[in-house]
Amino acid sequence: MGGWRGGFLVKKISLILQKKYSVDLMALASKLPKYVKIVEVGPRDGLQNEKEIVPTEVKVELINRLSETGLAVIEATSFVSPKWVPQMADHTEVMKTISKNPSLKYPVLVPNLKGFNSAVEAGAEEVAIFGAASESFSRKNINCSIDESLMRFEEVMKSAKQANIPVRGYVSCVVGCPYEGKIEPSAVTRVAKRMREMGCYEISLGDTIGVGTPLAVQQMLQDVINDVPIEQLAVHFHNTYGQALVNIFAALQLGISVVDSSIAGLGGCPYAKGASGNVATEDVVYMLDGLGIQTGVDLGKLISSADFICKALGKKSASSVGQAKSSL
Ligand code: HMG
Ligand code: MG
Repeated sequence: MGGWRGGFLVKKISLILQKKYSVDLMALASKLPKYVKIVEVGPRDGLQNEKEIVPTEVKVELINRLSETGLAVIEATSFVSPKWVPQMADHTEVMKTISKNPSLKYPVLVPNLKGFNSAVEAGAEEVAIFGAASESFSRKNINCSIDESLMRFEEVMKSAKQANIPVRGYVSCVVGCPYEGKIEPSAVTRVAKRMREMGCYEISLGDTIGVGTPLAVQQMLQDVINDVPIEQLAVHFHNTYGQALVNIFAALQLGISVVDSSIAGLGGCPYAKGASGNVATEDVVYMLDGLGIQTGVDLGKLISSADFICKALGKKSASSVGQAKSSL
């Protein structure tokens, strides 16, 4: 082939590729949400796994600082048995001492009616129930079967409706379980569907041990959205295998617009052996900023909050963005 003809062909092919590539990118961008609500779970999921009891003043200061970052939701604590999770035993004091910003929500975890009543007494205006897609994890975490847990949640829902308290639902082990291995999407859908039917306004799907990869996450979500509208779903990734951000991106592509994360990547579940921290809020905000997706959250203020809690815990931040930008 002559030199000029070869050059012409290369140019033509690259133009076709460029055209095809930009069309694909636009299609991808148009599917991504314009706004993502971040649910900050650091004060609860982040701290519940800390071995040393964190002083209540530190927890309160963390929540107060996070309240100034532009976050809309901060999960503050949990009203679980102090014998099971001693770190959360100061739940009432935390709820009564934080400076609540009236435009923010401060939900708390409740496993049963007892927890719900204590939470309301302490001033909680929103709660979250938490179940699992895995039988074994349900027993280890809340000491009952999935069906028993759903019955307990029905009781909580009944009281919550009477008190006009919104309830969020969590489903743990949505792709894998520390005791049972792979979890089928249908098991996740069954619990999420029931939670929606009983009145949860949002259901957060938790990869408790951070084993998911994008395809598994999308397959699970495809199954769940047959029964629960995507607008009512959130994703909750732990970052044990470093897959959390890419899994969030995979979820955004399907239309998910609520993401749970934890300041400085703190976290883990005491009843999920080997589970590491949640995806770091700083890393999520950095990625979403880069994608042009609004969050309302100020990255600089987040990093200062992360510096505060890391210093208090004597820990290095698990956030890559935090490590790159922190002044510590
Ligand atoms: P149990 O021992 O079966 O409870 O625990 P029980 O009803 O038999 O009662 C035993 C004792 O606990 C009694 O006290 C109750 O009063 C007390 P005693 O007579 O022995 O003095 N009790 C409570 N005390 C305070 N608050 C309560 C409460 N309920 C009973 N709400 C229970 C069952 C559910 C209470 C227990 O298993 C428990 O508290 N589990 C919580 C475990 C937990 O917090 N795990 C971490 C959160 S889940 C998570 O991290 C996953 C998530 O992030 C999503 C993801 O990543 O996938 C949400
Ligand atoms: Mg969690």
